[in-house]
Amino acid sequence: MAYNIAVTVGSLRRESFNKALAHAVTKLASADFAFELLDIGSLPLYSQDYDADFPESARHFKARIEAADALLFVTPEYNRSMPGVLKNALDWGSRPWGKNSWGGKSGAVLGTSPGATGTALSQQHLRNVLAYLDVALLGQPEMFIKHVDGVITADGDVTNDDTRKFLQHFVHRYESWVKRHVSK
Ligand code: FNR
Repeated sequence: MAYNIAVTVGSLRRESFNKALAHAVTKLASADFAFELLDIGSLPLYSQDYDADFPESARHFKARIEAADALLFVTPEYNRSMPGVLKNALDWGSRPWGKNSWGGKSGAVLGTSPGATGTALSQQHLRNVLAYLDVALLGQPEMFIKHVDGVITADGDVTNDDTRKFLQHFVHRYESWVKRHVSK
């Protein structure tokens, strides 16, 4: 039976490097792992006023999280933190009070940026929020990937051997982590 992974990419950009990285991870994964990219772009800006009656996009979003066995977050860094669209999605998934859809899942975080720190600060902020939301995150390897043009194609093919090995190592660790938390 397959492990269903809900993937959240913290960029809405059409040619997002992080979306390409997410594709690369899915391509390197074992056949018993199935990945679904969550739609965070159609979520409105969260307001507590919605708690009494969530819009359909948010209901659907929460249902897809709850249906997943585990989580994967692939995010850019915006101004030394996670992008607002990602924080907005985390907030939607966490509400209404007492109905945190993220809670109790296992997961992992990775990201890429052209900057030298490779999303390290964004990921640390994201880990902080996910810890509060009761997501059990893989600690190692840390995946701060400096983007270099052509190394990961838009379709998720990895053209550099060292990068592919590094990503494959992460994927093995991630799969073991998920299997440790999910009984099938
Ligand atoms: C950035 N970028 C950026 N990069 C970084 O390494 N650290 C940072 O703090 C920031 N800050 C930042 C703020 C804003 C508003 C933008 C638009 C961009 C650059 C960023 O890494 C780059 O645009 C990536 O291409 C974004 O990821 P995607 O969309 O390609 O996945």
